[in-house]
Amino acid sequence: MDVLQAIRERRSIRKYKPDPIPKDKLMQLLEAIRLAPSWANTQCWEVILVDDSQTKEALAQTMPPGNPAIPAFSQAPLIVVGCAQQGRAGCFKGQPATDKGDWYMFDMGIALQNLCLAAHGLGLGTVHVGAFNAQKVKEILKVHEGIAVVEMIPVGFPDQETKTPARKEIKDFVFSNEYKRSTDL
Ligand SMILES: Cc1cc2nc3c(=O)[nH]c(=O)nc-3n(C[C@H](O)[C@H](O)[C@H](O)COP(=O)(O)O)c2cc1C
Repeated sequence: MDVLQAIRERRSIRKYKPDPIPKDKLMQLLEAIRLAPSWANTQCWEVILVDDSQTKEALAQTMPPGNPAIPAFSQAPLIVVGCAQQGRAGCFKGQPATDKGDWYMFDMGIALQNLCLAAHGLGLGTVHVGAFNAQKVKEILKVHEGIAVVEMIPVGFPDQETKTPARKEIKDFVFSNEYKRSTDL
């Protein structure tokens, strides 16, 4: 699948078939993370693959009640929990090298979106899930100090029709030469 087509067609999937993910597809998803760019190639990502039903249910409980991704945690055969080694991205000798602090959220965003796009190309669905109690997830999964839990991503074969949510127009976020709206877009 063409990259732009994957970007255009990928949607957040919140309903899944129970079918397991074939090993070769799973390996391709992990390869998509492995190949992501990162700050000075520091590759701060680590992922925990959760396919145990009880653990998935425990993870679902860490989300606030209104989170629309909750049902996906019992349906999807796999939850990828994206973690980051802190003090690497955007850092020099463990200290932030810019005024933006630790860049792990940025590098994780790139790597995990790689996974989501690759999944779409392989006929799999995903949804980025960020609204949860990360401290509780750390306790459930016994994540070590210095490692941040960033996101959880259900992965599986989609079981829903999707609609494309509205996006801003290009002219509403592009500026020309200075912070001034471009008139020719
Ligand atoms: C960082 C991040 C966190 C998100 N957290 C959640 C979440 O907690 N629950 C959920 O259902 N969707 C979550 N989403 C999915 C967004 O709601 C979704 O991407 C957005 O509505 C656009 O829809 P689309 O992905 O189909 O284009 C998250 C997306 C991102 C990028």
